Amino acid sequence: MPDKLTTLIHHPYRPPAGFEAPMPAVHKASTVIFKDVAALRARSWKSRAGYTYGLHGTPTTFMLEERIATLEGGRYCVLAPSGLAAITMLNCALLKAGDEVLLPANVYGPSREQARTLLAGFGITHRLYNPMDADALAAMVGVQTKLVWVEAPGSVTMEFPDLRSLVRSARSAGALVALDNTWGAGIAFNAFDLGDGVAVDLSVQALTKYPSGGGDVLMGSVVTRDEALHHRVLHAHGLLGVAVAGNDAELVLRSLPTIRVRYEAQDRSARALAAWLGTQPRVSRVLHPAIEGAPGHAHWASHCGAAAGLFSVLFDAALPAERVDAFVDALELFRIGYSWAGPVSLVVPYDLGSMRSGAGRMPGHLVRFSIGLEATADLQADLATALKLAFG
Ligand SMILES: Cc1ncc(COP(=O)(O)O)c(C=O)c1O
Repeated sequence: MPDKLTTLIHHPYRPPAGFEAPMPAVHKASTVIFKDVAALRARSWKSRAGYTYGLHGTPTTFMLEERIATLEGGRYCVLAPSGLAAITMLNCALLKAGDEVLLPANVYGPSREQARTLLAGFGITHRLYNPMDADALAAMVGVQTKLVWVEAPGSVTMEFPDLRSLVRSARSAGALVALDNTWGAGIAFNAFDLGDGVAVDLSVQALTKYPSGGGDVLMGSVVTRDEALHHRVLHAHGLLGVAVAGNDAELVLRSLPTIRVRYEAQDRSARALAAWLGTQPRVSRVLHPAIEGAPGHAHWASHCGAAAGLFSVLFDAALPAERVDAFVDALELFRIGYSWAGPVSLVVPYDLGSMRSGAGRMPGHLVRFSIGLEATADLQADLATALKLAFG
């Protein structure tokens, strides 16, 4: 008879099979148990036909990967512990010393910083291109260009590019195209069917945003339709050790069924508030791709059926910067913080002067809003009060 404490660890009870509930079970593991030595020797972490070690996946993470691949219209998905980790994993999978990567000038800031510092340290060069000029991109792509990142719309300044033309330009010299699809989230447009037979090769999402929707989990994904590309990403995932925890995967699995209703609700509210802000005397420009007059609005209209609840406005350049900061401080429902797509509306003032050069420059003080799930009328009243307090 073993000690009862040994029995606690090696307990013989097995619950009955066949349990079904609306949400999938949460499996957590570093160690995965093999039934015998032959099973251990037969397993390869490069194959997803079974389980090897927690790092390489559990039923819970595999299930989330399948669902994200479906959401994006792709075939394969690899998870990473944040959106930025997914970008890093993709770069490590596809780039080596001597290669060049091209990034849009309005790319997600840390992506650009990674290229400037970490990738440069590995002998990988980068250049920035104007995302609103597909011909200029075609002229830049060379034999050394192995990867072109696209983002739609760009971060903070929200220009929506002619995605189909950018993809064609990148392809003209044989480069692979990776999309940061965090804004589209698999809802606004289909990355693997952009129209006219054009598709990206890989799509990255910060699942931190819409798929989570809670503002309480960090996660990222890389989706492809191409098996060989998927294996390259999977190889980088396994060797970088960027595992996702079961409880985090559970949070995203729980939120996924409501992604479309959340996306559409935040879209409606954001468009109404962006349009209203556009009528305010201190606001010189609204940067929301679904609003007429915003940069890339025609491209948005020809690619998308919806928009994320994220936009920026430019306050009159003649205003002192402190008044704009006072406006942000005066907001009560909008909390000051990074990220977007959660239930709480967020606001961040950006110093555009230090972020853009040349064609990407825009006059004025930029403030970005992420619209949460509060009542639109309450958010508008909060904006109106803060405008009055800051500008009179
Ligand atoms: C466009 C875009 N891509 C990637 C990321 C990175 O996501 P994460 O915060 O999960 O690292 C962000 C985060 O703000 C983002 O806005």
